[in-house]
Amino acid sequence: MKKWYAVIGDPIAHSLSPFMHDTWFQENGIDASFLPIHVEPSKLKEACESLQLLGAGGFNVTLPHKQAIMPFLDGIDEAASEMNAVNTVVRNGKNFKGSNTDGDGFVQSLLTADPRTDDKIILVGAGGAARGIAFALNRAGFSDVTITNRTFRRAEELAEETASESMTKSDAEQNLGGFDIIIQTTSVGLAEDEALPISLENAKTGALAVDIVYNPIDTPFLKKAEEKGCRTLNGVGMFVYQGAIGFEKWTGIKPDTEKMIKVITEKLGGNYVNR
Ligand code: ATR
Repeated sequence: MKKWYAVIGDPIAHSLSPFMHDTWFQENGIDASFLPIHVEPSKLKEACESLQLLGAGGFNVTLPHKQAIMPFLDGIDEAASEMNAVNTVVRNGKNFKGSNTDGDGFVQSLLTADPRTDDKIILVGAGGAARGIAFALNRAGFSDVTITNRTFRRAEELAEETASESMTKSDAEQNLGGFDIIIQTTSVGLAEDEALPISLENAKTGALAVDIVYNPIDTPFLKKAEEKGCRTLNGVGMFVYQGAIGFEKWTGIKPDTEKMIKVITEKLGGNYVNR
């Protein structure tokens, strides 16, 4: 029987996951399809049961279902419980197990920019995305991570859980020149006229500025960072690597990530420069 996989979300029409996974199925000679499925929040339980009944091999979960799906799954792995969110579901016989590949996907993307594990890192934000990244940085051996957030208490809590430091936003802005890597994990600043989640005035020339947002590809945060002489890394790599880790969980095959980053970057209208 032909295998099939899916991504569920609301909205879902603009997801690039079907394109990415269908391309990888073709490249690897796998007879499978990947469907975008629009699921409203009130229908999440039924959708999950239907995916089970109709034999989905696995699926991705995107906004706004990443937390809400958890009670409807048969199990949750360590990465998903750390993040308290699921982005990838793997079928094991009759069971659906929730995982989260965002944090490790982020780290794989970061590694393409040749960081050192003793680089001084500041993580901006303390929400779900920041959690996954903080734990994954920790696992990958990055030893000098500071977390800052608008609501300082959340930064302190996440720092405690991940053996990191915390800093208030104003201290972080003042001391930004001391950091080698600045990671922006909030969804703020997508619009041109919105304030950045952190002022980059004091950023060090040559520091690496990383945004997890990939659409738009050149976010106001990255533009400002470039103006300040920082190197930049956009969110396309994280998107592709989180998908690749999921693809491998489903098929046992490591897909071609480098080519996919180029293709998706072109699709989004950016230039492919791995700076
Ligand atoms: P996600 O799962 O996408 O990370 P989230 O858990 O709601 O979403 O977290 C959003 C993050 O963006 C938080 O760090 C949040 O800061 P607070 O903890 O202070 O709410 C941050 N954020 C949202 N709006 C912001 C704004 N206008 N300025 C600065 N940070 C903001």
